[in-house]
Amino acid sequence: GNKNINAKLVLLGDVGAGKSSLVLRFVKGQFVEFQESTIGAAFFSQTVAVNDATVKFEIWDTAGQERYHSLAPMYYRGAAAAVIVYDITNPASFDRAKKWVQELQAQGNPNMVMALAGNKSDLLDGRKEAQAYAQENGLFFMETSAKTATNVNDVFYEIAKRLPRL
Ligand code: GTP
Ligand code: MG
Repeated sequence: GNKNINAKLVLLGDVGAGKSSLVLRFVKGQFVEFQESTIGAAFFSQTVAVNDATVKFEIWDTAGQERYHSLAPMYYRGAAAAVIVYDITNPASFDRAKKWVQELQAQGNPNMVMALAGNKSDLLDGRKEAQAYAQENGLFFMETSAKTATNVNDVFYEIAKRLPRL
């Protein structure tokens, strides 16, 4: 039969990586060139139907600014899934993404489904390094563009497929 699953999902990543833009694309189908930097965190929800289940994502879009770092555990605690976002044109943001993965591996729910999103794929071609890194660390990897909508729904759909069936 069809199952209804509620899944808390957190987005983490550097300032300007495109967390809010990915959520805005996923939830509202929109993109804005001048998206404002998130203060604290923002909440959204969106439902995805997969073959055997309806997954309602309860999404926390966190702020990338360093001064909000200490708030992050409130958002990833108890989360079923995390999307760690970096900007493929910004190597420092990839380093920051790795730090988030380490923090989640140390402090997060061990069953958490983790996605690494290399965002702004409209600006540059893919990166083999990220693919290899994701594979080694048990994440799945996708390059996304909040601007063109490339792979945005797909990240959430792939998470929904991977969530444990209760
Ligand atoms: P914080 O809230 O400060 O942590 O940043 P964020 O990760 O939420 O980034 P945000 O979504 O605010 O995006 C930052 C900038 O990148 C904005 O000007 C967006 O328009 C732009 N942007 C986001 N995603 C994409 C994308 O896929 N392609 C392009 N070209 N620009 C993008
Ligand atoms: Mg934001």
